[in-house]
Amino acid sequence: MKNIYELKNNLANVYLTKLRDRNSTSIVFRDAIKNISKIIAAKVFENIDIEKISVTTPLEKTDGYKIKNEIVFMPILRAGEGMLSTFQEYIPTAKIGFIGIARDEETLKPKIYLKRIPKMTKKTKIYILDPMLATGGSICATIKMLKNISMKNITVLSILASPEGIKNISKKYKSIKIHVLKIDRELNDKGYILPGLGDAGDRLYDT
Ligand code: PRP
Ligand code: URA
Repeated sequence: MKNIYELKNNLANVYLTKLRDRNSTSIVFRDAIKNISKIIAAKVFENIDIEKISVTTPLEKTDGYKIKNEIVFMPILRAGEGMLSTFQEYIPTAKIGFIGIARDEETLKPKIYLKRIPKMTKKTKIYILDPMLATGGSICATIKMLKNISMKNITVLSILASPEGIKNISKKYKSIKIHVLKIDRELNDKGYILPGLGDAGDRLYDT
């Protein structure tokens, strides 16, 4: 599928196993999310848009680079918060936009309960962070909110996805890039990813 990138990385798969393991504590779980986020960030930022600048070393002038566009990381609360600190370490100058979404457990429809987003321009590059892409409803609601304020430059970064959720997003938003560590087998009738890892927010925060 166009614009869908599944990361093939052995070390990330080792950490994914920690996430899947029902016996992993929330400390182990958070640590694994961070380690996978490092691997995703390294891959995605390999090709970040840069522009040439001049830099003066202690010896002479030479070419250097800076990130071209303003960057915003947008974690979907709660689980997306687990990825945020790693991404901030990569690009400390990035602005942060928080979006709180909870799925209705019956209908599986997303409900936005919080929106705290920074000032952005049309050139701002937005990375939506959410480790779980199940029905895709939460990510679609975030993209829709961003499109409504004319934002165009949007990338989704996730850890585990379902084939159904990926199809749902890419049917509605063909040009949006989605980077995910692993696309699992399917969703169950309660909207959980199988084999999956359970409820990421609950496991991160021991709720
Ligand atoms: C989970 C997860 C995603 C969403 C994915 O959040 O963190 O945001 O479900 O499901 P979807 O693709 O079907 O929308 P949840 O609503 O459980 O909230 P929480 O993170 O606060 O637990
Ligand atoms: N949200 C989660 O945290 N896990 C799932 O499997 C589906 C939605």
